[in-house]
Amino acid sequence: MTVELAYAEAGSGTPVVLLHAFPLSRVIFERQRNDLAAGYHVVTPDLRGFGESPLGEEGPSLDLMADDVAALLKNLGLERAVVGGLSMGGYVAMAMLRRHPQMISGLLLIDTKASADTPEARDNRLRIAEQVLQEGTAVLQPMTDQLLGRTTRAERPGVVAEVRRWLDQAAPEAVAWAQRAMAERPDSFATLAGHDIPAAVVVGEEDTLSPPDDAAAMAQAFPREAVTYVIPRVGHLSTVEDPASASATIRDALHHIT
Ligand code: MLT
Repeated sequence: MTVELAYAEAGSGTPVVLLHAFPLSRVIFERQRNDLAAGYHVVTPDLRGFGESPLGEEGPSLDLMADDVAALLKNLGLERAVVGGLSMGGYVAMAMLRRHPQMISGLLLIDTKASADTPEARDNRLRIAEQVLQEGTAVLQPMTDQLLGRTTRAERPGVVAEVRRWLDQAAPEAVAWAQRAMAERPDSFATLAGHDIPAAVVVGEEDTLSPPDDAAAMAQAFPREAVTYVIPRVGHLSTVEDPASASATIRDALHHIT
């Protein structure tokens, strides 16, 4: 069963839904929602369990997250939208492509990857899921170094502090649920190869979680190679680390695919 997602929206024009990273919320697209409002109807949901959205009763599954987004779009009267996702949001976007391809007019994959987890990565997720339920979200603080690029860690202390605060605010149950859901996700390369849709890939130059090589592999997987944009001097959370550059890049990418 789907849950009703909290969301924010702005602007008018081609519908664009932006799906956030783990374990954050729509706050990571605050600037982009406003920056893109001239020309696009931008919808930024909180995925289930995060921000203001309920977690629901069902077991962990990215497919459920995708169904929630499809239900939200339908409730908003949007038959089709460009679906953009950053990291976990990208995994959800790829699940939407599997389950609701008719709703996707274009795909924007930001700092994400199409591969499944290695056994080690999977085990690590399951360990963190247990640990966060027992010890709380303090166990997530080391993620800050992975989420943010070296330039941000050295030069943007306000961003570092803000991301630390967001990590603290995540609900342990949602963190565990999402880790277990991501651990089960399939390889999505065949999904990308099977859909000849307009697509763009965006990656932070300093992203070590989904590095530029992962972005190139995704771009090449589409029947027609997707255009790729590399944002300089940012890591995994490009939309937060350098919001102006991320907005300009996403606008270019949207122009290319719509
Ligand atoms: C994210 O930013 O959403 C996470 O890095 C995704 C993941 O853990 O694979």
